Amino acid sequence: MKYAVVIKPIVFLLFLAPSLYYFYAVYLALNGENILGPDPAQTLSLATGEWSIRILVVALAITPLRYLLKMPRLWNYRRMIGLFALFYVSLHLIVFLMFLLQWQWADIGREIIKRPYITIGFTAFILLLPLGLTSFQAAQRKMGRNWKKLHRLVYVVNVLAVIHILWVVRSSYFDALLYGSMVFVCLFYRVLRHYSLAVRQFSLRK
Ligand code: HEM
Repeated sequence: MKYAVVIKPIVFLLFLAPSLYYFYAVYLALNGENILGPDPAQTLSLATGEWSIRILVVALAITPLRYLLKMPRLWNYRRMIGLFALFYVSLHLIVFLMFLLQWQWADIGREIIKRPYITIGFTAFILLLPLGLTSFQAAQRKMGRNWKKLHRLVYVVNVLAVIHILWVVRSSYFDALLYGSMVFVCLFYRVLRHYSLAVRQFSLRK
């Protein structure tokens, strides 16, 4: 118990820190000092996108790591990390709407339809929303078995996020391939575990 009281706020601050840095950078930019490089809007868009995928992958890796490292306590961080993923994806979307589209509402629908990588990114965001909204214990209790089914959408979100990144990437494919292989390994682990548990249950029944 004491362990979680110390570690949880540290984990919280670690995940919050990148956003605080970028909020500070935007604050400086509004006051005439630029620390975001020659294209601040693009820097913000890339940074929030990078943090979104990193945290999504961490959230997905919790289940395999929990079993492989025999650390059941990792489970306690899943909700916080998942909500941070939603937080960074929302920031990424806000940067897109604010700095790249300058709140031109008429352009938003057109961009979503016209650019497939935006369609895919936006779909990932929409699918992530109900997961965030139902991540609380009360919702989990109320939804029963359906909660687990709904939260399987996180696999789809990760796959869509990787497709979005592969599509949007302009120069190096390194990051896209790195995140893509991490998502693949996490999903493959789950499939393997599911089948090995099913086989074990079947052989016990015989
Ligand atoms: C799960 C959701 C999402 C993730 C994980 C994600 C992640 C990323 C990443 C990592 C990049 C940088 C790719 C590179 O290295 O070049 C990126 C770029 C971009 N994303 Fe997303 N994204 C998501 C959703 C969205 C949404 C909802 C939108 C807007 C509706 C969006 C719009 C963009 C745009 C416009 C870029 C290009 C930025 C530029 O090059 O200036 N993304 N995204």
